[in-house]
Amino acid sequence: MSNVDLSVQVGPLKLRNPIMLASGTVGYGNEMAEFIDLNKIGGIVTKSLSLKPRKGNPPQRIVETPSGMLNAIGLANVGVEVFLKEKIPFLKKYDVPIICNIAASSIEEYVECTKILTEEEAIKAFEINVSCPNVKEGGLQFGNDVSAVGKITHKIKAVTNKPVIIKLSPNVSYISEFAKAVKTEGGDAVSAINTLVGTAFDIKTRRPKIKNITGGLSGPAIKPIAVAKVLEIKRNVDIPIIGIGGIMNWKDVVEFMIAGASAVELGTLNFIDPAAAIKIIESLEQYCIDQGIEKISDVTGSFKI
Ligand SMILES: Cc1cc2nc3c(=O)[nH]c(=O)nc-3n(C[C@H](O)[C@H](O)[C@H](O)COP(=O)(O)O)c2cc1C
Repeated sequence: MSNVDLSVQVGPLKLRNPIMLASGTVGYGNEMAEFIDLNKIGGIVTKSLSLKPRKGNPPQRIVETPSGMLNAIGLANVGVEVFLKEKIPFLKKYDVPIICNIAASSIEEYVECTKILTEEEAIKAFEINVSCPNVKEGGLQFGNDVSAVGKITHKIKAVTNKPVIIKLSPNVSYISEFAKAVKTEGGDAVSAINTLVGTAFDIKTRRPKIKNITGGLSGPAIKPIAVAKVLEIKRNVDIPIIGIGGIMNWKDVVEFMIAGASAVELGTLNFIDPAAAIKIIESLEQYCIDQGIEKISDVTGSFKI
């Protein structure tokens, strides 16, 4: 044990370390618990929940691409009611902040979901997905519209006292304008980024490899874009940022933090190595020791330009 302080603060949310698991890549936590001790990570973000259960898109829903993958799951999930009855009891056995991710096809649905979930004491914060590229209604329809993102933030803040993190889309020209709207309307933090719209064709059938035609690109291919988006937000808006996109190891985490992230989320990496989170936390501690860093939070936004 060293004296390094790995704890970070994301607005009002205190985490024991900056490593969280990203929405949609760890379900509701039960499979992950077979690989890692959930008590050791900074936080877990659940699969996007909607008011009613959703079946999602028909297959093929996932395809591998160079340095990444495309997915068009279409927000398949059990809905808030089943989540509260059947899924959260498992997660509550662990001492890990549960961040509930919400997706919706109308502003009213976002508000309704938040109202129901905020009653559950074990939920420590909300991450609002306004940026899913794989659904017809909701998703990017909101994520591309600054005033809609502001309105959603405002209405959700009105029905919960818990921290509200808005998950932003990279499929826009200036992501910082969206972060500004979140800040103005009282949002506590932003997470960046969700996936980038992409597609791939089978050259023999000439059909898209994904049934939905387009999907969301994730994995190492998107990391430089994600770091640039975090930096853009950091340089323009005073709001805590959670960095997401293509993190494969501890060095990537440090890069995101230097660019301005207070914490990060691991996504695609969980499919490659479900135990990666723990290794990354240990390596981050070693990095701090080697660099003489007492508090990892000092790394946030420490870029030199
Ligand atoms: C299979 C899959 C499903 C996802 N589902 C969701 C989701 O339900 N809600 C959400 O906000 N993001 C979802 N995401 C996006 C991730 O949380 C993350 O923002 C994105 O994958 C970029 O990070 P990465 O490159 O580390 O994977 C999903 C990503 C993948 C690969």
